[in-house]
Amino acid sequence: MKAMKTQQFLRLALVAATFTLVSCEKEWNESSASYSQNQNLRTAPARNPLFIPPALAANGVTLTAAPGTTTLGSGSVTTSWEYNGTLPGPTLTADAGTNVSVLFRNDLPEPCITHWHGLVVSHNNDGHPADAVAPGGTYSYNFPIIQRAGLYWYHPHTEMLTGKQVFLGLAGGFVVRDAEEYALNLPGGGYEVPLVLRDATLDKSGNIKYQPSAGGMFGKIPLVNGTINPYLDVDRAVYRFRILNGSNSRVMNISLTNNVPFILIGNDGGLLPSSSNQTTLLMSNGERVDVLIDFRAMASGTRIMLKDLNASWDLLEFRVGSNQVSYGGSLSTTSAIQPLGAPVTTRTFTFDAMSKINGKEYDMNRIDWTVPLGQTEKWVFIANGNGPHPVHIHGASFQVLSRTGGRGQLFPWEAGWKDTVLLEDGETVSVLVRFDAYRGIYLMHCHKLEHEDMGMMANFEVL
Ligand code: C2O
Ligand code: CU
Ligand code: CU
Repeated sequence: MKAMKTQQFLRLALVAATFTLVSCEKEWNESSASYSQNQNLRTAPARNPLFIPPALAANGVTLTAAPGTTTLGSGSVTTSWEYNGTLPGPTLTADAGTNVSVLFRNDLPEPCITHWHGLVVSHNNDGHPADAVAPGGTYSYNFPIIQRAGLYWYHPHTEMLTGKQVFLGLAGGFVVRDAEEYALNLPGGGYEVPLVLRDATLDKSGNIKYQPSAGGMFGKIPLVNGTINPYLDVDRAVYRFRILNGSNSRVMNISLTNNVPFILIGNDGGLLPSSSNQTTLLMSNGERVDVLIDFRAMASGTRIMLKDLNASWDLLEFRVGSNQVSYGGSLSTTSAIQPLGAPVTTRTFTFDAMSKINGKEYDMNRIDWTVPLGQTEKWVFIANGNGPHPVHIHGASFQVLSRTGGRGQLFPWEAGWKDTVLLEDGETVSVLVRFDAYRGIYLMHCHKLEHEDMGMMANFEVL
């Protein structure tokens, strides 16, 4: 019985690898000299135009998960799994106060369910693994948007298959807008660009290959919006980038070359109490940042690289053109955020080994604790080795109170409202949380998806 979920997971992963591998054993980047992502080659790789997923109002839409193909922006065709035929899937949009209705269709050869990461919705709309639908089945979502503007996202949440399904390509952004944000006149249209960062591994035929270990799935190349070696032509203008780390396991430390700062205005749960200039932003799996980049004073022809300093990867090249565009919106922002106040109860959670919370692996049918609706609580997360563990809570956003041990501090992108917080080895992170909206069963888990699939997840119930 020991580590049963872990063994099951690795067995499933092996099946997954066989499925996507077909018959190829060697990987593209090991076997093909022309493979352009090899950062060690001295010649700069040919770059491909950044794919921008289509925006789609999340009202009365069908979202179909199915096997598909993509070129990843380069010449050759890759098989992947896609929402509505693109990788990433369409960027869903909705205004606060409006209703979302989405019909999810599962055209995959295995069960699947879709979860709205960061959105506060009722249990029936949350995409709990128990709600997974069989191949050919559908699931109908209907919920109001009852939270602030921000970049949220959607992805499968299938029991023991989340990592595989996300890695093969199933993920997309979900942008919520509200009156507070509209009033800031931030860059919009072509000047507001979602950036879904992730890694991938391709087999010899160029197909995405999921081959995790218990320690996680670390892809060998970066993708931005599903594009290999992307570039984006930009005007001499202010841009807004909505950035998600959609990798299964890889933590990224993003930065811009030429000493260009990010103007950090928001994170998981929308606008920060105040914006600030940042040279690096550390993003674990599932975390988001909202940044402005001011290209107005740059010479035409300037090239700026968005990098991941952790892997020394070039993620996205900005190519500044000659078109000068004035900007009348905000360059610094503030937002009044009500602190959650004194907690009534404190709960402690240890993240143990690679598959347990407080010593237990996930059981879909077990509820590990109950929380009174409307009660402010302090939840304390303790890393017990095998970090990093990005801790994510469903059903509410939270406020990060403190980090002791390890890095021993909070960072500017951890202010305001969060739904995922990075817990590194040696660290204790405390958050305040209050479930205001719905009673029902919700999840807390490590967002390193291989840890989640092995059981580092728990059900709790809001009563
Ligand atoms: Cu982004 Cu429970 O997940
Ligand atoms: Cu979530
Ligand atoms: Cu973990």
